[in-house]
Amino acid sequence: MAEQIHSNNVAKHNPDEVVVDIEHISKSFGGNEVLRDINLQVKRGENVVVLGKSGQGKSVTIQCIVGLLNPDEGTVKVFGDVVADMDDRELKALRTKVGFLFQSGALYDSMTVRENLEFPLTRVLKMRDQAEIDQRVEEVLDGVGLLDAVDKMPSDLSGGMRKRVGLARTMIVKPEIMLYDEPTTGLDPITSREISELILNMQKKYKTSSIIITHDMECAKITGDRVVIMNDGRYIAEGSFDELQNSDNELVRSFFNETT
Ligand SMILES: Nc1ncnc2c1ncn2[C@@H]1O[C@H](COP(=O)(O)OP(=O)(O)OP(=O)(O)O)[C@@H](O)[C@H]1O
Ligand SMILES: [Mg+2]
Repeated sequence: MAEQIHSNNVAKHNPDEVVVDIEHISKSFGGNEVLRDINLQVKRGENVVVLGKSGQGKSVTIQCIVGLLNPDEGTVKVFGDVVADMDDRELKALRTKVGFLFQSGALYDSMTVRENLEFPLTRVLKMRDQAEIDQRVEEVLDGVGLLDAVDKMPSDLSGGMRKRVGLARTMIVKPEIMLYDEPTTGLDPITSREISELILNMQKKYKTSSIIITHDMECAKITGDRVVIMNDGRYIAEGSFDELQNSDNELVRSFFNETT
């Protein structure tokens, strides 16, 4: 009997597969040593939170994963392929599988919410079937609770709503990996919690693997299967939120005391 082919091929993947493999990467800018021997493995379906103070190289790490920056030493592999060795065509293909919610989360201000969401479908996925496009737009907007806003302009939305649309726009191509850079920064605590819960829902619904960069402890607690702490360009500890919160290491504990 013919094997059933899944449009979403999550089912056939090995759950222990490492989808992002960061091995001994270092990165400096001039004399500024930002990353010093960073190692991080993300498994399929896992949400990994990276906690770290400002200026620690968290965003630089994310840029190395999508090939916007290359490390000076070490390698970053995504789905087993070395990102720094990819040519333009391979990088483009990579970016259809890896969704990236920028720290600024910028939308196109001159486009409606619908047009913002259609953009990656028509430009990146080259979709042409309008019924299919409409269906994707509705599904993803419904997922972030903003179906009503489909014909609004970004300027008519609150900061939290814009973040949600940004999230929807990243999710609409159904990336296998999501990179969230400070998804809750600048939002009030209630909206931050809503965004964190959306990130968790996205993981459950689409079985994505994610890296969530944050210094929002509640976001870390809600979204993270595993938490990694970055200090001085190195990863100094990893574990569950509760394990790290109760760590014997004072420096590790200090991350939790300062902000909660
Ligand atoms: N393209 C670049 N050229 C030169 N220096 C850079 C570049 N990108 C980042 N840096 C430097 O690398 C360091 C780490 O920056 P990065 O943006 O990764 O920090 P971060 O941990 O994301 O901080 P934040 O929490 O404030 O977002 C900073 O000192 C920054 O000035
Ligand atoms: Mg940053």
